[in-house]
Amino acid sequence: MDVFAAISQRSSVRAYKATDVEEDKLKKILEAVRLSPSASNRQEWKFIVVRNKETKKKLAKTAFGQSFIGEAPVVIVACGTESKAIMACGQPAYTVDVSIACAFMILQAYEMGLGTCWIGAFKEDETKKILNIPEHVRVVAMTPLGYPDQPPSQKFRKSLNQIFSFEKYE
Ligand SMILES: Cc1cc2nc3c(=O)[nH]c(=O)nc-3n(C[C@H](O)[C@H](O)[C@H](O)COP(=O)(O)O)c2cc1C
Repeated sequence: MDVFAAISQRSSVRAYKATDVEEDKLKKILEAVRLSPSASNRQEWKFIVVRNKETKKKLAKTAFGQSFIGEAPVVIVACGTESKAIMACGQPAYTVDVSIACAFMILQAYEMGLGTCWIGAFKEDETKKILNIPEHVRVVAMTPLGYPDQPPSQKFRKSLNQIFSFEKYE
C-alpha cells in the first residue's frame, strides 16, 4: 500500500484514449466511492456514470466547452442528495462528503492507470436537465475517466512553510 505515491504522482488528465474502461476497474472505482467516509455516515450522495456519447458531449458543452470531457469513455457526475444538512462547524455536509468521495475515486482510478480531471466549471442547472437530476439534488463535481493520452504534468504547489503553521495561525 503506497497512498503517497498515488497522491504525489497523480495529475489532472485533459486528453483521453478511446480505449474503454474495463467493467471490473469501473466497479472498483465505484466501490472506493461507496466506502468513503461522510458526516454522521449519512452517505447522502449519488454518482451518475455516463457512457452515452451524445450525453457526454452535452456535459462538455455545459462545462463551458471543455471538450476533453466528451472525449473520455466515461464521465462520472457527483451529486449531493441532501443539501440542507449543515454540520456543527457551519459547513454544508454534502459538499465536504461528496468531495471526499471524489478524491478517493480519483486516487483509486489513478492506482489502476486511469486518468481523471476534477471539473468544477459547469452550469449546474443545465447538467441537471441533461441527466434528469431532481431539483433538490446538487451537482458538486464531475470528472472524465479513461486512459490518459498525455504525459503526467508537473506539479506546482506552495511550499510546506507557506501552508502550515504550528500551534496557532500565522
Ligand atoms: C474544485 C476543483 C475544480 C476544478 N475545476 C476544473 C475544471 O473545470 N477544468 C479543469 O480542466 N480542471 C479543473 N480542476 C483541476 C485543477 O485545475 C487541478 O487540479 C490543479 O491545477 C492542480 O493540478 P493537478 O490536478 O494536475 O495536480 C479543478 C480542480 C478542483 C479541485
